[in-house]
Amino acid sequence: MAARALLSELPGYSKLQALAETLRAASIDRLFAEDPHRARDFTLAAAGLKLDYSKHLLTREALAGLLELARESRLQTDIESLFDGAHINNTEDRPALHTLLRASSSHGMDARFEQVVASRALMQQWSERLNDGRQTGFSGATITDVVNIGIGGSDLGPRLVSEALRPFHGNVGCHYVANVDPADLQDTLLELDPGSTLFIVCSKSFRTEETLTNSVAARNWLLNAGAVESDLHKHFLAVTSNLPAAAEFGIPAANCLPMWDWVGGRYSVWSAIGLSCAIAIGWARFEDFLAGARAMDEHFHGSPPEASMPLLLGLLEVWYSNFFDAGNHVVLPYDNGLQRLPDFLQQLTMESNGKGVSADGRALPYTTGPVLWGSAGTMGQHSFHQLLHQGTRLCPADFVLPLTTHTGMQEQHRRLVANCLAQSRTLMVGRSPEAARQTLLQRGLGEAEASRLAPHLAMSGNRPNSMITMDCVNPRTLGALLALYEHRTFCSARLWGINPFDQWGVELGKEIGTEILARLSGEAGSGAMDPSTERLMREWRDAACDD
Ligand code: F6P
Repeated sequence: MAARALLSELPGYSKLQALAETLRAASIDRLFAEDPHRARDFTLAAAGLKLDYSKHLLTREALAGLLELARESRLQTDIESLFDGAHINNTEDRPALHTLLRASSSHGMDARFEQVVASRALMQQWSERLNDGRQTGFSGATITDVVNIGIGGSDLGPRLVSEALRPFHGNVGCHYVANVDPADLQDTLLELDPGSTLFIVCSKSFRTEETLTNSVAARNWLLNAGAVESDLHKHFLAVTSNLPAAAEFGIPAANCLPMWDWVGGRYSVWSAIGLSCAIAIGWARFEDFLAGARAMDEHFHGSPPEASMPLLLGLLEVWYSNFFDAGNHVVLPYDNGLQRLPDFLQQLTMESNGKGVSADGRALPYTTGPVLWGSAGTMGQHSFHQLLHQGTRLCPADFVLPLTTHTGMQEQHRRLVANCLAQSRTLMVGRSPEAARQTLLQRGLGEAEASRLAPHLAMSGNRPNSMITMDCVNPRTLGALLALYEHRTFCSARLWGINPFDQWGVELGKEIGTEILARLSGEAGSGAMDPSTERLMREWRDAACDD
């Protein structure tokens, strides 16, 4: 079979390079003036979300060119393969079936769907048992708090969902421990009572150092508080695909919920990995969360390319990465509950698309996944937005804006919305040196001083940004939002020719970490390491001995 053409080998690529060249100096404001329907036509609605992509360095011609590129790269076929359960994760010879986790029917994958349905039933049982106060601990007290112990995909998704949906929480407290730094566990346990705390060990592999270390420490915390070994089943659940390892740790099969190799960690919040969320918000709302994602799946699967929100966002990511050299992408949720969204998206996008070879192992001659960063508005306005407005780097931005608040504080929320819209518009329009000079003159400065300061107040504008809005953050819109970014990541990956579902790049660090831990524990290693690492190990040993 002929090797698939890489993005830069497609006929549409060089055409887009030429178009990008002309757009580099374009004024987005002028694009609005020249095209009266731009604001109307460069918007899309799907699954309770709205995307306004009109404030981009994009003309109708460039958009058509990008859609042509998607066609040439056979993206639509890849989308079919994703939903059909083809082994699209080719380096691990597996499908990537996160969409089946939120499906309402089997889509021809009966055996797997039965597993999903059975797992949902288990999640529902545990969620209801905890919310009804039927689960008791070693002292006979009702379990009031759950602690999710996991890391990466076994932490970031559940933590984000739980925080974002806090207005929907019931009575069970929900906590998250991820870091192997003992302070993470210690700080969390400080506010908890061992008799009424249940741990959910979330680890697909049940081999992850941080999760196992924290789980052992949690077990010791219970034993030190008076629990005995035979009580531990009252305090531990596991979500894993490695039942023998969970059993060896002491978690009986009846307390284990399944995970499968056909779900990637960063795509797993829809599975039993999301159990802590299902407990926090209750089962019915967790089902709404799945339904929101399903609505986005249906939109993605069923829409023509030009009407597909994830596909357009993927094209825009490629547009700025490959044609404008933007090495980063900033995500700005104007909602305090969504402040973990950038963290979640970092793993989703950077573990998926931080790769330098194509799915068939060829070195890629172009840049791939950008650095994703961001934080909740308005905090960033008083720190890094300076760079967004006047820095020399291009930072394409996504604003995420719920139009209403759960707080009931409409007046204050209006301020938040005003800030968000102002930032989006300011990035686009900027301020010319002459406008800056006039502003200074109006403030009463003399001609000379106004001319001296004008370059410092001038802003180039034309800094592209998308606006994603929703009525409010609720289980459905949040499900749709996360699924939107999953599919956007997939589209970008396939345009770049990447397999987004493996993560071989994390392996070597783990291996060297094991070697260094052995050396720090006094074992002889297989040989000397580099002089810098040897010296740092000596320094740690000296400091630890002084303790
Ligand atoms: O080290 C990376 C990684 O494998 C992620 O892909 C994954 O989400 C995380 O570790 C946790 O893995 P596990 O669920 O197997 O503990």
